[in-house]
Amino acid sequence: MRADISDSHRPVPQPEYAAGLVAGRRTVNRFRAESPPRSVLMEALELARWAPNHHRTEPWRFYIIGERTKAAIVSLNRELVAARRGEEAAEAKANSWQAIPGWLVVTRVNATNELQAWEDYAACACAIHNIALYLWSAAVGMKWTTGAVTREPRFYQAVGIDSGVETVVGLIWYGYPDEQPQTRRQPLTERLIECP
Ligand SMILES: Cc1cc2nc3c(=O)[nH]c(=O)nc-3n(C[C@H](O)[C@H](O)[C@H](O)COP(=O)(O)O)c2cc1C
Repeated sequence: MRADISDSHRPVPQPEYAAGLVAGRRTVNRFRAESPPRSVLMEALELARWAPNHHRTEPWRFYIIGERTKAAIVSLNRELVAARRGEEAAEAKANSWQAIPGWLVVTRVNATNELQAWEDYAACACAIHNIALYLWSAAVGMKWTTGAVTREPRFYQAVGIDSGVETVVGLIWYGYPDEQPQTRRQPLTERLIECP
């Protein structure tokens, strides 16, 4: 981590870079096989923790998923898909998941009151978006997923998360994009309310 990033808390005017990064980032669904260097992921995680968080709870925990854990998740999801949609769909899903190079799980530490839990979830979302933006700046794409598998007790077990202590906020897949994703937004005027 470059120490100067966190040492100089001054806004630096780079509006075009920021606009390009924020509006240019897209969720990536298909990745190339090659894994991005671990240093890129570590830098993204260093930056994740600079997300705003009320009462400075720093409620996020990051689980870097290795091959054995990935295999356990892929196999668990295969089982879930087989039960819902049959063996052929399960096989196809397992193959496509196995091909995803980068796996990360982000959790939120459970709070003792509802307001803190709500705010901590928001903080974790900010942290995940920090990850997304930094990765994108390094030509790495990601997808934030909250599929059914992430709510399974066996998912928690496979990753080593104590569900009494933490809740999964997202399973993050990352890697070099193998597609040029598109998406749309409604015009701002559809979502903007000006209060007098
Ligand atoms: C909390 C959260 C959960 C998401 N979960 C999923 C998911 O389970 N599956 C999926 O395909 N996309 C998921 N996404 C990604 C969204 O589908 C994606 O952000 C949306 O399509 C807009 O595309 P964009 O990120 O390129 O702007 C999730 C996004 C967020 C913020």
